Amino acid sequence: MVIAHTIQEFQKARLALQGSVGFVPTMGALHQGHLSLLQRARAENDCVVVSIFVNPTQFLEGEDLEKYPRKEDADIEICRLAGVDILFMPTIEQMYYKDELIILAPKIRGYILEGAKRPGHFDGMLQIVMKLLNLTSPTRAYFGKKDAQQLSLVTQMVHDYFMNIEIVPCEIVRDKDGLALSSRNVYLSSQERLRALSISRSLQKASQMVMAKEFRVDVITEAMRIILRDVDSIEYVKVVDRFFYPIEEVKPQASIILVAAFVGKTRLIDNLWI
Ligand code: PAF
Repeated sequence: MVIAHTIQEFQKARLALQGSVGFVPTMGALHQGHLSLLQRARAENDCVVVSIFVNPTQFLEGEDLEKYPRKEDADIEICRLAGVDILFMPTIEQMYYKDELIILAPKIRGYILEGAKRPGHFDGMLQIVMKLLNLTSPTRAYFGKKDAQQLSLVTQMVHDYFMNIEIVPCEIVRDKDGLALSSRNVYLSSQERLRALSISRSLQKASQMVMAKEFRVDVITEAMRIILRDVDSIEYVKVVDRFFYPIEEVKPQASIILVAAFVGKTRLIDNLWI
């Protein structure tokens, strides 16, 4: 495995790759969820490229940029064992210029839900993903469904900018108790973790209701909010279509139920594609 820290090192290593390339962009602190993306990329491509970069432009003022978990040695080992060909770990100076050209998230879809709670987050996310995709020029890029709006906006960017890359949505990986895996779960105390389980339980409840043919969004979200009493504050419980427009009736195979909530100081998101 080549570990590249500069653009030049990365480009040299990338030039040497032959055949299809699967790309997994990450911010490190790799867990089983990331590993499932790496394994899928490994299975579906001749070569695998992974990036680890804690991207400052997608963090808002007061968010956890400084304390975002960093586990460099463990991450390198995970990538090596997963058969990654190139691991790209650039510095901020390598990735950003002064007064550079900016990509902006779409005005509606980029500023609802996560975009409303974290205005500007998706601008920064799209900016870095555009750079990483252009540098890597992969055949396929792998994104988890847990960050559903991110996945949707990256898919839109690739479409709108005529980028010839397949964006592959990957299933959410959960702990045995149902908690969706996230690098931020390490912030939770054991007490908070127990309370955080109400998020996945509320989604299970929604799923049961839909299976029982209850499609009214207000009825479903009301039942979810009762289960979500265990969290400290709910940011949103929403049902959208696959393009992220809010809907009033769940349409099976075409809807996503989304939750964002705080448990203690930790902000958690989860969702169910239905
Ligand atoms: O999902 C993430 O880890 C990040 O948003 C990404 C896609 C690596 C861009 O920084």
